[in-house]
Amino acid sequence: MSAPNKSYDPVEVETLKPEEIERMRDEALAAFAAADSLDALHEAKVAQTGPTSPLALANREIGALPPHAKAEAGKRVGQARGAVNKALAARQVELEAERDARVLVEEAVDVTLPYDRVPSGARHPLTTMMERVADVFVAMGYEVAEGPEAEAEWFNFDALNFLPDHPARQMQDTFFVQGPEGTDESGSGVVLRTHTSPVQARALLDRELPVYIVCPGRVFRTDELDATHTPVFHQIELLAVDEGLTMADLKGTLDHMVQALFGADMKTRLRPNFFPFTEPSAEMDMLCYVCKGESIGNPDRPCRTCSSEGWIELGGCGMVNPRVLTACGVDPEKYSGFAFGFGIERMLMFRHNVEDMRDMVEGDVRFTRPFGMEI
Ligand code: FA5
Repeated sequence: MSAPNKSYDPVEVETLKPEEIERMRDEALAAFAAADSLDALHEAKVAQTGPTSPLALANREIGALPPHAKAEAGKRVGQARGAVNKALAARQVELEAERDARVLVEEAVDVTLPYDRVPSGARHPLTTMMERVADVFVAMGYEVAEGPEAEAEWFNFDALNFLPDHPARQMQDTFFVQGPEGTDESGSGVVLRTHTSPVQARALLDRELPVYIVCPGRVFRTDELDATHTPVFHQIELLAVDEGLTMADLKGTLDHMVQALFGADMKTRLRPNFFPFTEPSAEMDMLCYVCKGESIGNPDRPCRTCSSEGWIELGGCGMVNPRVLTACGVDPEKYSGFAFGFGIERMLMFRHNVEDMRDMVEGDVRFTRPFGMEI
């Protein structure tokens, strides 16, 4: 820096000439105006207002001027720097506003766009219930067996000792896919199976004895859809054929099933009934798992689940009719067996207090989700 010089003329210092200061100012203003982003403006700011900028260097020269020249040069440089800072601030505001407007457009979220995430599903409680029941028997050594849903009339009815005039064989009760006239030489028509019991006959014909099978599956009847009926529903069937099986084995197996599914203090009871394919046949009830029978004749403790009857009807059962064994090539003198079958929808209704069976068939996930994702 130069030493004070009393005879110094400021106009002779190149960088402090008025036109030179104006040029520096104009150059700075042009640089700010040309900056098209905040980054570019920052670079221009460093170049035009930083410690090595032309105006900062000119400002430094003022200190070396004689006192009478300092005021005017200072004023000129100060005005130029003031104009430069003002222009810088104004451009900063402009560019920030532009950036904010652009970000608002670029990062806008259209909340009306379709939802593109696939929500995780839930298995239908009928499926998990069927698997849970089947698992009880698989753990006892039973095998899971399957049969076709479009079944030969012979398996669905004849092999199971349904006589030709049995009401279930009427069109009003059964969906016929093909009448006997349109089928093969066996003369058997094709129906949508009305129960899972035809799997009994298939298993006895296909497998080596002894036979222990459990068969979950979908069945069809011409019932109207209402709160307690559906034309398409699910049953689970059990069949055991071996030497020396008795009604006591059937009862013990039923008791084990309800204890495994509903708790150790559960039991079943049998009431006489008729099925063509079992003899003797019974209706099986299980103790009401809510009141455990305590609501019977006890007005102080009414039970909604069993309507205070103490028992809940589960399905049908019995000893396999020797005629069925014979029709399937099994010697009824040597072998005996028991079978039972029940509806899964009804079991789901009383187990989970579902009041209307239609909720199970409508496919609304709001019904399915509360049952959780059971594997
Ligand atoms: C039978 O279907 C026999 N096959 C059960 C059987 C198997 C007996 C082995 C003996 C030995 P049933 O027609 O009662 O039986 O039907 C059994 C269960 O299916 C009923 O208890 C009921 O829970 C259920 N069910 C019957 N019709 C419907 C329907 N339309 N909607 C929902 N569930 C039904």
